[in-house]
Amino acid sequence: MISISRRVFLKVGGGIAAGAVIGVPHLTQAAATTPEPQVIGRVNLPYPMKAIINAQKLQVNTPVSFFYPDASSPCALIKMGAPVPGGIGPERDIVAYSTLCTHMGCPVTYDAGPRVFKCPCHFSIFDPENTGQMVSGQATENLPSIVLEYNSNDDSVRAVAVEGLIYGRQSNLL
Ligand code: FES
Repeated sequence: MISISRRVFLKVGGGIAAGAVIGVPHLTQAAATTPEPQVIGRVNLPYPMKAIINAQKLQVNTPVSFFYPDASSPCALIKMGAPVPGGIGPERDIVAYSTLCTHMGCPVTYDAGPRVFKCPCHFSIFDPENTGQMVSGQATENLPSIVLEYNSNDDSVRAVAVEGLIYGRQSNLL
């Protein structure tokens, strides 16, 4: 066993500490002059605004189909009947998702019993009450969320953006 005297220990330890102290101002100065890192792949896309339906026409737990942001992107909007994360409207319960499965793009369907989206191809399940979260199956990504806005003046629900990448695309806007 190697024994180190108290004097040697303090000398070496003090040297390391001094080096660290000397290094701190250098790092701080570098951080102050380095520009904010860019978030790679994050771009604000010019999504269209699309009116979908008036909120009063929605029935709880009954999906409404629409296409967004273009005619080749099927989606479903649902009034869940109770506030949910990301929900909009007077009850904060209206959400919408792309209905293309994130595994291989099969169209998912809504099952009103367990209140989930199910994929018939490889049985992935997604939870619309929890931001489209993948619950089980082959998919590894949540369903892309359609960002909605509610206009209390005319009771309209509009799609304004997509969060998450629609299956099969390199960009949500073609
Ligand atoms: Fe949906 Fe495979 S395409 S689970």
